[in-house]
Amino acid sequence: MNLVHEIREIARKKNAIILAHNYQRPEIQDVADYRGDSLELARIAADTKAEIIVFCGVHFMAESAAMLSPEKKVILPNPSAGCPMANMADASDVCKLKQQHPNAAVVTYINSTAAVKAVSDICCTSANAVKIVSAIDAEKIIFVPDKNLGNYVSRFVEKEIILWEGFCPTHEHLTARELTDARRKYPDAVVMVHPECTAEVIDIADEVRSTGGMIKFVKETSATQIIIGTEKEMIYRLKKEAPHIEYILPSNALVCPNMKKINLHNLYDALLKEETVITVDPDTRKRGVYCLEKMLELSR
Ligand code: 13P
Ligand code: SF4
Repeated sequence: MNLVHEIREIARKKNAIILAHNYQRPEIQDVADYRGDSLELARIAADTKAEIIVFCGVHFMAESAAMLSPEKKVILPNPSAGCPMANMADASDVCKLKQQHPNAAVVTYINSTAAVKAVSDICCTSANAVKIVSAIDAEKIIFVPDKNLGNYVSRFVEKEIILWEGFCPTHEHLTARELTDARRKYPDAVVMVHPECTAEVIDIADEVRSTGGMIKFVKETSATQIIIGTEKEMIYRLKKEAPHIEYILPSNALVCPNMKKINLHNLYDALLKEETVITVDPDTRKRGVYCLEKMLELSR
């Protein structure tokens, strides 16, 4: 059986769209209708006319799609594909912090649970975090859950930012030493990293961008070598967009195991059986979707 052909056929018959995050396996990126970063995929999920959204990514992405399009069936082909950073913040702890800082606005990274979004003021992604924090009408911000992204944002805004102690285990692996070594080896290369990296890594970088921002950069740059500080599969995507550039991965630890949990077999099964459907209880959705919609509106 040709799995790619079967997947495309079932998707067509069922009026389903397949979305793939830029960190997905190459074969999943290839079979998908759309590839993108968290913001681009959330936007597509909110606007699609399809009846079924198959989300090839991690749980919070499918959950956000389910919140934005409650009338659609949102499927995560492997329900165990979670994001460890999203699980580092818990709604009741966020509420306790809010009580300690009653004038602060809670800006929550989309890499979070629906329950945390439901107690927040607005969401952001790595593509629009600076814009959102600047735009929100508050001088004090509680930034949840990524301390690295929050710290990166604090470089651009004159606001007090209270950081949650969460982080992405994959990006946290990349050290300043590894990046400096790569730079020594490739002195002409541009260093481009994701804002989930540590402050020491960001200090060395020439470009700090979301995965969607990285694609934009490679299409426009005259650079011929780029050191990539993000999940390894990003290079597959970048090569498709700008194949003339040499991409260098500075560390073998840049792998998100959860993003690798979807393959052609479980994608095929998921489409066929329409499992696993991701849902959010109506009350949580009602409070959380406001934060997602406000983000989409402010980042237009
Ligand atoms: P973006 O693709 O939005 O930059 O996010 C990266 C990420 O870690 C998703 O989990
Ligand atoms: Fe979560 Fe990091 Fe994996 Fe993104 S790369 S899904 S933030 S663990």
